[in-house]
Amino acid sequence: MPKIKVKSADQIERIKRACAIVGWVLDSVGQEIGVGITTKYLDSFAEKLIGEKDALPVFIGYRGYKHATCISVNEEVVHGIPGDKILREGDIVSVDVGGKIDGFCGDAAATFPVGKVEKKYTRLMDTARQALEAGIRQARAGNHLGDISSAIQKIAEANGFSVVRELYGHGIGEDLHEDPLIPNFGRPGEGPILSPGMVLAIEPMLNMGGWKIKTLEDGWTVITADGQRSCHFEHTVLITEKDPEILTLRGKTW
Ligand code: MF3
Ligand code: CO
Repeated sequence: MPKIKVKSADQIERIKRACAIVGWVLDSVGQEIGVGITTKYLDSFAEKLIGEKDALPVFIGYRGYKHATCISVNEEVVHGIPGDKILREGDIVSVDVGGKIDGFCGDAAATFPVGKVEKKYTRLMDTARQALEAGIRQARAGNHLGDISSAIQKIAEANGFSVVRELYGHGIGEDLHEDPLIPNFGRPGEGPILSPGMVLAIEPMLNMGGWKIKTLEDGWTVITADGQRSCHFEHTVLITEKDPEILTLRGKTW
């Protein structure tokens, strides 16, 4: 069984500050998204906002990664590298943002439509959002980690989509990635029991087609094996004595 850290009140306070900044940055980047925008513009905008709040862009330097965000378009699942790619009408674009302040991290992602998007892709995004919400609802003291995983999988598959099986959510705190790994598939009642003070980054990745993925030669960009589109939502969530607290929630733009 993994050792899941229970954070102190002081640590939680810092995580909350990091998460509030991350949530705000993600909302703000979402509002910049439109036809003709490059992914590197969105990344530099995010990096500027993170800096304005005296936070650190925690992705930079993580295993040699060089950018503040990951931006993944259409068949790109996660870890897309910001660059000269220009967003086009009908694309879907996932933005993943991390920030660190006073030694503690926050992590969130959302997928946004570019202009008018085909109905089937809107459904994919709506389902992924619902799957994340269903997972979060299970993030309660006394529940098992598998309750979160299975809730996500159930919603995804009931709607005809698949969940990526080789990438996971994670615990978060002083480090961007801490125990436990949080699969987006599994069975209720399995895995470690959740306690108040645990902080989890829950991040379902849903594919239109099959669940298989591959990594491009750049060593980062993960795409679907079948070339169909994928989408990704992530929140950092605190387990409490009562309801789960979504720490990266800001406005309701995503
Ligand atoms: N945000 C990603 C995650 O949720 C991590 C991005 S990898 C990095 O795990 F290199 F960009 F940091
Ligand atoms: Co994450």
